[in-house]
Amino acid sequence: MTTPTTIKRIAVLTSGGDAPGMNAAIRAVVRTATYHGIEVVGVRRGFQGLHQGDLRLLGPRDVANIIQRGGTMLLTARSHTWRTPEGRAAGAQHLREWNVDALVVIGGDGSFHGAHYLQQEHGIPVIGLPGTIDNDLYGTDHTIGYFTAVETALDAVDKLRDTAASHERIFVIEVMGRHAGHIALDVAVAGGAEEVFLPEDEKSLSDLMQVIHDSQARGKASSIIIVAEGYPGGGQGIADAITRDTGIDTRLTVLGHIQRGGSPVSSDRVLASRLGEGAVEALIAGKSNIMVGRTGGGLTYVPFEETWTKRKDVSRALYRCAKVLSI
Ligand code: F6P
Repeated sequence: MTTPTTIKRIAVLTSGGDAPGMNAAIRAVVRTATYHGIEVVGVRRGFQGLHQGDLRLLGPRDVANIIQRGGTMLLTARSHTWRTPEGRAAGAQHLREWNVDALVVIGGDGSFHGAHYLQQEHGIPVIGLPGTIDNDLYGTDHTIGYFTAVETALDAVDKLRDTAASHERIFVIEVMGRHAGHIALDVAVAGGAEEVFLPEDEKSLSDLMQVIHDSQARGKASSIIIVAEGYPGGGQGIADAITRDTGIDTRLTVLGHIQRGGSPVSSDRVLASRLGEGAVEALIAGKSNIMVGRTGGGLTYVPFEETWTKRKDVSRALYRCAKVLSI
């Protein structure tokens, strides 16, 4: 739907796992709306807060000094009540009571499902912004938070390489990515890893043993192996297999939620700013039930359903590159 509408007040919320750059996106939404004479209401704790009616007005000064901060000033949650029609009806009622004309949801595909149902059942225009460190949303080259998560994981890999080399050990490093290996692959290439395991591509453990054997035969005394958490068995499974099959001194480090924190890098701040501006202007233009993404430098408007029915594959060229350079 793209009929220009008169919007006087919008709401914004962050939902699902937090991602560095969400604050920059909130700031961009609030300030773009103010620029166009539209009021903004912030919803705390995502859809859970919307269901409970935890809303407050946000002005441009309320979002000062947050562009550099990790986390989300609006707080976030994974809401169970929102999965029920009754939960969504209560949230829609709160939006009506606050005279909200449209909603901006910053989150991942679970959040977009919630946004889609709100629009379908209650006719409230909703726009999504891709906010997840996993970068697993179709229709945008990158998601808000991804660049920072990769930098954080890479910094840890560089440090672990120092100790791996000193002790001539194998280090298995598990990075986040429940369903997608984007973080793992970028970190593997940038960190010069010997091997990478992605949820998208199961390979046999005998292949891994061959890689380790070949590495040692080529004179490598230490190795870095990156595993996405969504790979069956995760980092623990790989580390156990190496110890069992080779007896080589192996250590496992699970990076975990540290990858979700920290000050967003410039690429995430710029992406969040651009998408936040784009979301408000898309609502003014009458767009709804879509995610605003960025591909090849330009904004894209992707129907919510496509973000979860279509898949953004990892780069096969980069996967090959990781393999070639690990020689
Ligand atoms: O937001 C994405 C993500 O960080 C995934 O990479 C990870 O699997 C999941 O969230 C962890 O979720 P929670 O914080 O609820 O444990």
